[in-house]
Amino acid sequence: MNQITQLISSALNIEDIISEFVHLKPVSRGFVGLCPFHDEDTPSFHVYSDTQTYYCFGCKKAGNIFTFIMESMNLSFSEALHILADRAGIKLQNSPSPRSNDILKLSHAFFSSHIFNVNVALAYLHKRGLNDSDIKAFELGYAPDSWDSLTLYLRKKGFNDSEISSSGLVMQSQRGFYDRFRGRIIFPIHDISGRTIAFGGRIIVGEAPKYINSPETTLYQKRNNLYLMDLAKEAIRAKKRSILCEGYMDAIRLHKSGFKESVASLGTSLTPQQAKLLSRYADRCYICYDSDTAGKGAAIRGMYILQASGLDVYVMSIPEGKDPDEYLLTHEPEEFSELIRTAKPLVLAHLDFLRSRLSDPLTHKTALKELFESFSTISPSEVLEYKSEISEATRIIPSELEHKIIIGARLKPEETTESLTDERSKKGSPEGRDDSLECALCTMLMRDEIYRLNITSEDIMTLIETPEIREIGLSILNSEPSLLELQWTETCDTEKFGILERGKTLCSQMRGLDDREKFKSIYSSLKRTQIERDLSRLNGLPIGERDMRTLMELYRERERYQK
Ligand code: CTP
Ligand code: MN
Repeated sequence: MNQITQLISSALNIEDIISEFVHLKPVSRGFVGLCPFHDEDTPSFHVYSDTQTYYCFGCKKAGNIFTFIMESMNLSFSEALHILADRAGIKLQNSPSPRSNDILKLSHAFFSSHIFNVNVALAYLHKRGLNDSDIKAFELGYAPDSWDSLTLYLRKKGFNDSEISSSGLVMQSQRGFYDRFRGRIIFPIHDISGRTIAFGGRIIVGEAPKYINSPETTLYQKRNNLYLMDLAKEAIRAKKRSILCEGYMDAIRLHKSGFKESVASLGTSLTPQQAKLLSRYADRCYICYDSDTAGKGAAIRGMYILQASGLDVYVMSIPEGKDPDEYLLTHEPEEFSELIRTAKPLVLAHLDFLRSRLSDPLTHKTALKELFESFSTISPSEVLEYKSEISEATRIIPSELEHKIIIGARLKPEETTESLTDERSKKGSPEGRDDSLECALCTMLMRDEIYRLNITSEDIMTLIETPEIREIGLSILNSEPSLLELQWTETCDTEKFGILERGKTLCSQMRGLDDREKFKSIYSSLKRTQIERDLSRLNGLPIGERDMRTLMELYRERERYQK
């Protein structure tokens, strides 16, 4: 391996990468799971942590992270390299200095070396209920109250000014370099494999901002990381849930109280990347914010980002206006467990936050708007699960609610912006696209209940692109065909009959197939089109922004629906 591939491999863990695609169980030398490269029922795909390689005893495929990404995502070496470099936080163009790693490591050692001999710092941590072994376990440190002690130390260690300045730990003024962190308790931020990539610092005396943090660097991107993720990941896997809090001290207190599945967002807005990080280990995520932030718009939007990115979000509410750290200082872990047990699913928690605004005529409208805007970002089925509660809180009757939610889902941001820029697409199918298969699907659904039972509203939403045809598909699923026909006749809805008629024509042209085979063939063709559509959309993104798991699933699905 050359220097860059080596740098990337040492920054990543093969089991982290492969867990995105394969459910891995720990065994003696590493992990085992179902092979992604061939069909099997008993796991014979081994991942070895010590050599960072994999081997399948079934199909004999073997390799490292690069071959894994190339093979499973059908990519060239250079594409795999880009994806993995991005994951490792390494910039390929202006080749990164492996020394930036060293600076972080050395600086961390520098901060650690001061914590036990500065009395104010040590006393501060003791006062906050952390003992010496906590300080070691969480690798806390202290940045001396001096303008340039770290700068001088790094220079002495042989780093030049440009290396020191790109670490983000040192700032520059007209008079020269000075330390970013001065007179602060230091919390190291690690990436998922435990490498130190940034620091946070808390003031212990004086008026300056309570916390300051490393800036974004080639090593550290806030959007890709969560505090204590490296320590929490195994517990998240084992407990099948994560707990997400805001602050450094909250996360540490939670770990100390036995909730080792906790991570902190560090007070910034939540991102899809962080959701993916968590969902690799468990789908359930409990949000445990300070009671004063939990109900704020930005916090709630963040929770919807997590839910939309595949997590099942539950919102905890901590009594007495406390944050988790303060709460656990005065309450038993069992009481906290009770708060977890009574946490509410996001949709219901959101209703609670809005309840008083919803019932006040002056604010009812804006509260409704906020609610439905949030709903439109997640899948309709996740919202409709709580139809009766929503109906009660909003005073909208269930059938109208369902309509609103499904229509709302159709107007997701990407679609609305598209239709704003492209007048034609407002009217339905883009010019030239053949929608007769979509009509045929509706025809088959009208024909026999057996097909209606085999398809969900979500299938319809994704398979049928043309809005008018999609609406017909949804109505067929949700009511009796004979009633629908009656209703369309009464309302003179000839357009609907026309669509079904076009579908009928196509079905009758499919000679030599029985109805069941026709349905299967129509379904598969639409599915293939949908997969190609999703693939080309994803592949149109810059390599670093493509979501690996979704891509992999799409490639796999495409194979399943191959003619
Ligand atoms: N934060 C920050 N910069 C600030 C304030 C807060 O980066 N000026 C981040 C920190 O990660 C902090 C988190 O937001 O831990 C939550 O902020 P806050 O609730 O204000 O602080 P606490 O975590 O409660 O801090 P402490 O318990 O140490 O007082
Ligand atoms: Mn606090």
